[in-house]
Amino acid sequence: MRVLGIETSCDETGVAIYDTHQGLMGDVLYSQVSLHAAYGGVVPELASRDHIRHLTPLIEQVLVQASTSLDELDAIAYTAGPGLAGALLVGASVAAGLAWARALPLVPVHHLEGHLLSARLDDPAPDFPFTALLVSGGHTQFMTVCQAGDYTLLGESVDDAAGEAFDKTAQLLGLPYPGGPALARLASTGDPRRFKLPRPLLHSGDLQMSFSGLKTAVAQCIREQAEEARADIAAAFEEAVVDVLASKAQLAMAQSGHDTLVVAGGVSANQRLRHTLQQRLNPRGIRVAFPPQRLCTDNGAMIAYAAWCQLQQPGVLEGYQAQQRPGFTVHPRWDLAAYGHRWRATIADNPDRTSQAGQNTPHSHP
Ligand code: KG4
Ligand code: ZN
Repeated sequence: MRVLGIETSCDETGVAIYDTHQGLMGDVLYSQVSLHAAYGGVVPELASRDHIRHLTPLIEQVLVQASTSLDELDAIAYTAGPGLAGALLVGASVAAGLAWARALPLVPVHHLEGHLLSARLDDPAPDFPFTALLVSGGHTQFMTVCQAGDYTLLGESVDDAAGEAFDKTAQLLGLPYPGGPALARLASTGDPRRFKLPRPLLHSGDLQMSFSGLKTAVAQCIREQAEEARADIAAAFEEAVVDVLASKAQLAMAQSGHDTLVVAGGVSANQRLRHTLQQRLNPRGIRVAFPPQRLCTDNGAMIAYAAWCQLQQPGVLEGYQAQQRPGFTVHPRWDLAAYGHRWRATIADNPDRTSQAGQNTPHSHP
C-alpha cells in the first residue's frame, strides 16, 4: 500500500509518500519561515496563500523523488486539523481533488496523531503500548497510546503550550521568529543556574502543567538585568520548562506502568529536553523514543505514515473506499482522544455512516 500525505496546518508545506514495503519513499518540505519572519509570527492569510503556491509543485517533486506516479498510489491523506483554518483548507481541497480524480480513498489525519506516530519511524520503532508526551506549538499533553487510534489523555497544560512559551519568551528576549530554536541556541551559551525561575504546578501531584507564569517571570528578570544576562535567562527558562516536563514525565510513567515514553511535536527537537528525559528515565528501565530529528517539526511524512497506520486496521480501508464522493471538513480545534475513538468506531465498524459528504464526514464533531 502506498499513501501520499499532505501537511498544511501552519507554516510548513509538506508532502511525502509512505509505502508498506519501502517505507518512506519521498519526503519534501517547504518552510515559510522567511515569509513570516518580518512579522515576528505566522500571518494566517499569508500562510494559506503560500501553501497554494507551493503545494502542487511539491507533489510533483515528491513523485519524482520517490520514482512513482499518481497511478501507483492507494490513498491520499491530508491534515484535517487542528491548525489554521485557511491553511488546512488548502491541503484538504487539493487532497480531495486528487482523490476524486483518481478514485482513491481520502484519509483525514489529526495533526497530533501524525506527530505521535512519527516516533515509530525511528529505528528501532517503539512498540505499542506507550506513553506519549506531545509538545508542540499549540499542545502539551501526556497520553497513553495502546495502538494507532487509541489515545487517552492523562494530563495537559492548563494555559500556554511549551512551544508557545518558548516562542513568547524568545520574543521577550528580542529573538527572531521562529522563537523556539533561536532560544535554544542562545540558551546553549548560557548558565542555567544563575537565575532560578519558577516551576509552576511542579508538585501538583497530577499531570497538569502551566507555562504562562514562567513568561511573566522572564519578563521581570529581563527588566532587572543588563543585556549581557540574556543567554543566562534563556538557559534558566529552558531549564525550568525541561525540569517541569521531565518531572511530569516521571509521574506519567509511574501512572501508566509503560516501559516506553514517546516524545513528539516541535519541542521534541530540543536537545536539553532529549538529554534530560533520557538521563532521568533510562536508569529506571524506560526507553525514551523520539521521531528522527528532521521529523520533529511539521512535515508530510508523519501524515502519510499516520494514514498508512489507520489503513492497516481491519475495515478502515473498506470504510474509506465505500465513500462515493467523500466530502472534506477541517477542524481548526480538534481533540485527539475523541478523534481516535471516532475514526476507529465510525470507519471500521460502520462504513455506511461515512458516505455522506460535507459536514458529516467521519471526523467532524457531533
Ligand atoms: O509541532 P510543531 O512544528 O508545530 C505545531 O504543531 O505547533 O511545533 C512548533 C513549536 C514551536 O513553538 C517552536 O518554537 C517549537 O516547536 N520548537 C522548539 C524547538 N524547535 C521547535 N522549541 C524548543 N527547542 C527547539 N529546538
Ligand atoms: Zn505540529
